[in-house]
Amino acid sequence: MAVRAAGWGFRYGSRRAWALRDLDLRVEPGERVLLTGASGSGKSTLLAALAGLLGPDAGDAEGRLEVDGGVPRSRRARTAIVFQDPDAQLVMTRAGDDVAFGPENAGVAPERIWPAVDRALAAVGFPYGRDRATAALSGGQKQRLVLAGALAGDPGLLLLDEPTAQLDPDGAALVRSAVARALADRRATLLVVDHDAEPWLPLVDRVVELTPDGGARELPAGWRPAPLRLPGRRPHLPGQVLLRAEQAGFTHRGSRAPALPPTDVAVRAGRTLAVTGPNGTGKSTLALLLAGLRAPTSGAVTATAPLTAGLRRPDRPPHRWPAEELVRRIGTVFQHPEHQFLTGRVRDELALGPLRTGSGDSEAHRRADELLERLGLAALAEANPFTLSGGQQRRLSVATALATRPGVLVLDEPTFGQDRDTWGELVALLAEQQEEDRGMVLVSHDAAVVGALADDVLDLRPVVPAVPA
Ligand SMILES: Nc1ncnc2c1ncn2[C@@H]1O[C@H](COP(=O)(O)OP(=O)(O)OP(=O)(O)O)[C@@H](O)[C@H]1O
Ligand SMILES: [Mg+2]
Repeated sequence: MAVRAAGWGFRYGSRRAWALRDLDLRVEPGERVLLTGASGSGKSTLLAALAGLLGPDAGDAEGRLEVDGGVPRSRRARTAIVFQDPDAQLVMTRAGDDVAFGPENAGVAPERIWPAVDRALAAVGFPYGRDRATAALSGGQKQRLVLAGALAGDPGLLLLDEPTAQLDPDGAALVRSAVARALADRRATLLVVDHDAEPWLPLVDRVVELTPDGGARELPAGWRPAPLRLPGRRPHLPGQVLLRAEQAGFTHRGSRAPALPPTDVAVRAGRTLAVTGPNGTGKSTLALLLAGLRAPTSGAVTATAPLTAGLRRPDRPPHRWPAEELVRRIGTVFQHPEHQFLTGRVRDELALGPLRTGSGDSEAHRRADELLERLGLAALAEANPFTLSGGQQRRLSVATALATRPGVLVLDEPTFGQDRDTWGELVALLAEQQEEDRGMVLVSHDAAVVGALADDVLDLRPVVPAVPA
């Protein structure tokens, strides 16, 4: 199906500024286009509009936007969209049922559904049968399944919004090869958004950049993303241990396999410990334990003197500290920032931590404004955190973690969803935290951020042999 935009723009109901404006774009049937552009430039807005998801209740549109010569809404049955978080998109507990969900809802005749499901599973190279439990899949496998669900309806337009963002490098490669395989016959048009542009280049016909002043720019053939801007770092010696995990492990109630096998680590002042490894090896679980947000089910996490200073009960482990004591000592960023926002305004969100931990009003807001400026969020100070773009939400959650100047930072994928510029600014800001002697735990699949910041690396590997792809 063809895509046409002519002077198209969209403004969300809650905003004065246009999310995207003056867009002219032509994509021919069967073409494959990678869409890039700064965080907040309107990429997700465009994909959502093409999927027919932005109705008049969401905001105002101007100009024309067409899919296959009609308004996007009228083409919804033949358009499929995949977002970045596979967990949010898997609805059923068995793989086949999940893929069948779309066609069933669209009223496809029962005798045609299962053959379509099998074709879609084969098209993405899903190695298991329909009965496979979706919970038992790796991130890459889950996202392949989501893709199969999108393909089962035989779409003429496939829209992928950062489909590999949550995945480890192997999982991301699985998804890209599944896309390549599924689109080989050129029956569907592809628009894909991914901040990690390079690996998509062999797969797409051209690259279009959404520019900050609105509009779109065709990037020349042979275009390559600019190199990342790495922070300068002063060498530093191992500082004092602030936090220690000793044989700390975690097993979910009712499950036999541990989410994290017993693990030893030390977090030191002025040093960054990177935790790497494939999806599902317990990286985020370790982060939760070190952050004091969960109690280990085996072993212990203990904090030491510089970090426990001022606590009434310094002998207690972090998960037993009162909430205000915890936020001023350990700042955290977790996988779904939108679950962490507590206020209705970006500026309030940032001032909240400092206010709760005893900063005066003006000091709290000064700190908030400084962080907003650094992270390119100043124009959004009055916006509702829940309405920010993916990359903006992530930057806000990092800023929130830094706002209370905690001794330890536990950051799960802090650079997630960033363009080259915001990535550089974020990494520079994190490098400063080390110089100010904070201890950092950095969970990430982003090899560049690990390379830029890590002093020590803990590479978690699966305890059970990995299932073959
Ligand atoms: N639901 C919403 N309500 C109000 N404003 C929104 C909403 N969603 C996005 N915006 C705003 O519209 C602009 C474009 O956002 P969009 O999500 O399309 O950007 P994006 O290019 O996908 O960014 P990212 O790379 O960070 O995901 C941003 O300024 C964002 O804050
Ligand atoms: Mg987006």
